[in-house]
Amino acid sequence: MMLKVSILGFAGSLRKGSYNKALLRAALEMIPRDTELEIFDIEGIPPFNRDLENQPPEKVKEFKAKIRAADAILIATPEYNYSIPGVLKNAIDHASRPYGDNAFDGKTVAIMGASVGILGTARAQYHLRQSLVFLNMYPLNRPEVMVPLAQEKIDQNGRVTDQKAREKIKELLEVLVIWTRKLKKD
Ligand SMILES: Cc1cc2nc3c(=O)[nH]c(=O)nc-3n(C[C@H](O)[C@H](O)[C@H](O)COP(=O)(O)O)c2cc1C
Repeated sequence: MMLKVSILGFAGSLRKGSYNKALLRAALEMIPRDTELEIFDIEGIPPFNRDLENQPPEKVKEFKAKIRAADAILIATPEYNYSIPGVLKNAIDHASRPYGDNAFDGKTVAIMGASVGILGTARAQYHLRQSLVFLNMYPLNRPEVMVPLAQEKIDQNGRVTDQKAREKIKELLEVLVIWTRKLKKD
């Protein structure tokens, strides 16, 4: 019997027509066997204020509960000014607090990203990796899923049409599931 793997995915963009949300929708179309993928929208998570960290809003409670219930995490990040968007960092900060209550602790995680530039979120992804290491997560090293010139690879309906990008997303999911099963086996 294969261990069923549940993945929680979220994008670091609030934009309706987000290319990174499109990557997550593509992932939904190609989830491996014995795997579930749920997408969470980080819209509505307020700016983190440490004075209030012991009274988190419902949205943050829901986010943390879904992270905890998942075996693995999938993050689709845009690149903003060579780093990750503030909304993504903010959501991650919320889920890591208060001290000692880091919902991400010990989870496997895969990263992907789409940008309109030619490096396809490479710089943002390495910033994100740094935070994931501090959060005691286990990020996949490869495949690296970086979708440059996203406007040419994702159509007007928000569908990833580029075959290479689709294959990379599929491979990422497959390796994430293998990685998660390996780490769960003790
Ligand atoms: C504030 C801001 C900064 C940006 N900085 C970068 C950047 O450093 N590199 C890049 O490739 N694209 C950059 N972009 C363009 C994004 O790649 C583009 O907006 C992309 O569509 C964002 O992802 P989304 O479609 O998921 O929202 C930036 C966009 C914004 C709004």
